[in-house]
Amino acid sequence: MTKKLEGAGLRGQVAGETSLSTVGQIEGLAYRGHKIELLAEKSSFEEVAYLLIYDKLPNQQELSDYKELLKSHRDLPVALKEVLQKIPATAHPMDVMRTGTSMLGNLEPEGEFSNQLNSINRMIATMPSIVTYWYKYSHEGLDINLVNDEESMAGHFLHILHGKTPSDLHRKVMDVSLILYAEHEFNASTFTARVCASTMSDIHSCVVAAIGSLRGPLHGGANEKAMELIENWKSKDEAKSNVLEMLNKKEKIMGFGHAVYSIRDPRNAVIKEYAKQLSKLADDNTLYLVADEVEKVMADEKNMFANADFFHAPAYFYMGIPTKLFTPIFVMSRVSGWTAHCMEQRANNRIIRPSAEYTGVESSDWIDINDRP
Ligand code: COA
Repeated sequence: MTKKLEGAGLRGQVAGETSLSTVGQIEGLAYRGHKIELLAEKSSFEEVAYLLIYDKLPNQQELSDYKELLKSHRDLPVALKEVLQKIPATAHPMDVMRTGTSMLGNLEPEGEFSNQLNSINRMIATMPSIVTYWYKYSHEGLDINLVNDEESMAGHFLHILHGKTPSDLHRKVMDVSLILYAEHEFNASTFTARVCASTMSDIHSCVVAAIGSLRGPLHGGANEKAMELIENWKSKDEAKSNVLEMLNKKEKIMGFGHAVYSIRDPRNAVIKEYAKQLSKLADDNTLYLVADEVEKVMADEKNMFANADFFHAPAYFYMGIPTKLFTPIFVMSRVSGWTAHCMEQRANNRIIRPSAEYTGVESSDWIDINDRP
């Protein structure tokens, strides 16, 4: 049996430098020094993406130019649409995102690194288009129009998904969600992107690699898994007894715990408040009540707190978003953080190549192939 390595999972180890965000125990989360709570209240996703990518808050003109730029890049090349049309409805939307991004890299390769901003903004603009185009085509047989007058990415996504103008509250909640998910220091997918960038690879490869890391249920996939769990419970009592049963069996409750935060995840209070607001307007608020109960039980029994993913499940549900699209929304947002990290890595690069503690045998005898058992 292998012994548990001290610092396994690189926990607590500094693996590089960044000026993009701080993930702290007490001070919480800040993007380039701006607290997440304030960004969620006062800014928009586009403003945050600009802050991460251009390393400054945009003035009014810069912001409207940036929004216009993203808006003008939303439509997809025909060849990419044809690839998306061939992906079956049974595919996981994260696989669709991975393939869509990769195809975009084939059709519009980055080339010289001096083109990185063009490729980055194009990817940010097309992520909602890739997933919704495939979803509507494969699930509803629709070849949707990806161009509309929605100014924000949040509004654009909801509009093309539901085929109608979203309410102001839905636009705001989606925008806040994109802000909360945009950046998170050296999390698994960002670290993956940086490792890829450190080999001087192209920006599409970095994002494809990151999507693969984000897909897992221990990372971005947790919001979907949280939904699949809580939608089964029809009352607070049922939720409580099932959670207790799962904890007794040492099962994990998705959407709880964190590799860095040990007291609270500052993103949770923000999205929880919006999930509550949405539930009050819904015909049935059971899902929110169940989620609230699970949070209480986890605090009482395990002293564990909900992370950013948990209350995203009821929030997205009340906005009519299919569960399988939860993690792709994370991609739509985090692509801004990933690519900002890739630019930072490129600007001061050394290939990331750690060492391993060898646990194999000291030396092995060579046995000729004909003599092997
Ligand atoms: N539900 C129940 N118990 C949990 C738990 C959860 N969500 N998360 C961690 N634990 C328990 C583990 O079982 C382990 O218990 P043990 O010491 O008795 O074996 C202990 O807490 C430490 O967990 P571990 O998985 O080693 O912590 P980590 O720092 O390596 O992992 C996460 C952090 C986020 C991967 C982990 O908390 C998790 O899997 N959470 C659920 C998935 C999730 O929500 N991911 C999104 C993160 S933003």
